[in-house]
Amino acid sequence: MSVVSYRTAGGVAVLTIDNPPVNALSHAVRAGLVEGLERAAGDAAVVAAVLCGTNACFSAGADIEEIASGLALQAPLLADVQARIEAARKPIVAALEGTALGGGLEIALTCHWRTCAPTARVGLPEVKLGLIPGAGGTLRFTRLAGPESALEAITGGAQIPAARALEVGLVDALAEDAVAAAIELGRQAAADGRPLRLARDCGDRIRSVRPGLFAEFRRNITRRARGQLAPWRIVDSIEAACMQPPEAALALERAGFVACRDSPQHQALRHVFFAEREARRIPGIGAEVKPLPVRSAAVIGAGTMGTGIAMSFANAGIPVLLREAAPDALERGLAQVRSQYDGSVKRGSLTRERAAAALALIRPASDYAALGSADIVVEAVFEDLRLKQEVFGLLDRAAAPAAILATNTSSLDIDAIAAATSRPEQVVGTHFFSPAHVMKLLENVRGSRSSPQTLATVMALGRTLGKAAVLAGNCDGFIGNRMLMFYGAEAEFLLEEGATPEQIDRVMEDFGFAMGPLAVRDLAGNDVGLLIRKGRKLPADERWSPILERVVAAGRLGQKTGKGFYRYEGRSRISDPEVLTLIEAVSRDLGLKRRSIPDQEILERLLHPLVNEGARIVDEGIALRPGDIDVVYVNGYGFPAYKGGPMYWAEQAGLERVVETMRRLAPTHGARWRPAPLLERLAATGAGWDARAR
Ligand code: NAI
Repeated sequence: MSVVSYRTAGGVAVLTIDNPPVNALSHAVRAGLVEGLERAAGDAAVVAAVLCGTNACFSAGADIEEIASGLALQAPLLADVQARIEAARKPIVAALEGTALGGGLEIALTCHWRTCAPTARVGLPEVKLGLIPGAGGTLRFTRLAGPESALEAITGGAQIPAARALEVGLVDALAEDAVAAAIELGRQAAADGRPLRLARDCGDRIRSVRPGLFAEFRRNITRRARGQLAPWRIVDSIEAACMQPPEAALALERAGFVACRDSPQHQALRHVFFAEREARRIPGIGAEVKPLPVRSAAVIGAGTMGTGIAMSFANAGIPVLLREAAPDALERGLAQVRSQYDGSVKRGSLTRERAAAALALIRPASDYAALGSADIVVEAVFEDLRLKQEVFGLLDRAAAPAAILATNTSSLDIDAIAAATSRPEQVVGTHFFSPAHVMKLLENVRGSRSSPQTLATVMALGRTLGKAAVLAGNCDGFIGNRMLMFYGAEAEFLLEEGATPEQIDRVMEDFGFAMGPLAVRDLAGNDVGLLIRKGRKLPADERWSPILERVVAAGRLGQKTGKGFYRYEGRSRISDPEVLTLIEAVSRDLGLKRRSIPDQEILERLLHPLVNEGARIVDEGIALRPGDIDVVYVNGYGFPAYKGGPMYWAEQAGLERVVETMRRLAPTHGARWRPAPLLERLAATGAGWDARAR
């Protein structure tokens, strides 16, 4: 069976791509398209051609495996297919019945016209892999839809719904049966002798570009795109699409594509892409273990996390019951949900209808008996083991026998919570990140008795909710927070030795974190940080820096009190000499002579202990693989995706560097800061993570 089939319908050739699962543009597809186009061109009985796809998809773009193979692509290339389309003398119409992404959309944009099913989505997501479109996507998109839409869509990489695609001019008509509409359009265009329209030659949308548009856009993305290659190259290409002849714009785009493709950033983002896929696989749990369907859910506790988790379910179309202890807390929670949805509508990230539909899916539960309909219950009450055990006891009695009982605890023992039920095999941790309806990470925590089906269900739930799910073992802090402890502690040791909050945050923000560690502390609340710290038992040979305690004692709780490690005016943070005085007093009390600390030392001393603990976590089986840790840090802790995550980043630089840092820190910091045995083993031979003994 060919991956591109050919049939004729009333004088129109219909070329259908059928390359499951997503009609990737592999070599066979490209060759099939060229062959079909030639056949249509040579058949005197054919007046027009339509390109479409099966598998509820036009094409999701390049074959990522083919590209990942590193081998030069075999002709015909995408550009060859496009050259055939643009050289055609008969109308060619693309019918988009499902997603058309990346190279898939680039082919569609090359055709003379496009019809689109109302449910289809289009987009150029290359930026998410650190790339820019490489087959004229920036030129054709810009010339059809104008530079404003192009800048937004291509630097963001988001999928565009059909109605919006029509509105901006990317597609020409919406039709339930996009293929039939495309056949009709092609036939009519041929009958009328309508001039064939090539996107590259369209001039209407670029004739009067607002002066200053590009300078302004570049300014706007300075923060978001800092340190990255692809977004800037995309802006350059779109500018060229407006200002230069098509050939020159295409050459510039091509050069940008090659530069991005050969960059470490693309390698790192590709690593994250594959790591997210790999993280879904759990050794020993095969395809024969079917996840339970989650058709309805319940959330206990309507605080910060509970409301966000409820919204995550609702946004995925899953009805969710919300249970609170007190009526006023429930009212506050629901008001919070409403105001979040209002905000999304105002920002334009959600249509009024979709927000209303999601809101309607969240309903209060008057009592525990009402929870019997839920397939999964996620508990998000206060972080208190006794309270959680009591709630799980009640849930065990009220929930359907097959229902999964999940806890959002960030630190408590899953087994101790499961012990309060008669169904420990159906108890699991589902650790969401704040704000839960936004953050992409779902850290699922395996109790010692969690069943394979329970685990398969919460891993599948991640996909349903549009999140990257990772499975963690049950230990203090699980994967993410356990590692974070070393990062936070080290930031304060650096302050004691001579660094300032400004320097530390600048180094980490230049590295690519959205916020440095001390700015994050101020955001989360220094009192909260201190409380968590006090709940931890520290080994006898370790200490905490007294800085956090003194900052709190000085009433500097963070943004909420207008001062913490910084002073705040509105949201902008301002250096505060009082903080430095406080830090210097600590240095003095500890008998430390302050010194100037190089930026590189700050970077390594913050990230290497994180990686070192990551190595222990892998060795202990708490994380299934180093890549899982990267997925956790990229999606839950603001680690720059274009650096690939902490484990990948450390491997690129050489694992022996981590060992060196830890050897330096251990004598003053304590035994847990010694190099992890796994790291020492790998570093001794200069090996990477792949060489670890399984
Ligand atoms: P929160 O204090 O904002 O909300 C807790 C809610 O639970 C309150 O509205 C309270 O009225 C309600 N509640 C208390 N007892 C209840 C009961 N018996 N039945 C029903 N509702 C009850 O707390 P937050 O921040 O939402 O945390 C909830 C859980 O999520 C905790 O286990 C926390 O460790 C965990 N977590 C928190 C994160 C955060 O950033 N805040 C991140 C990840 C996990």
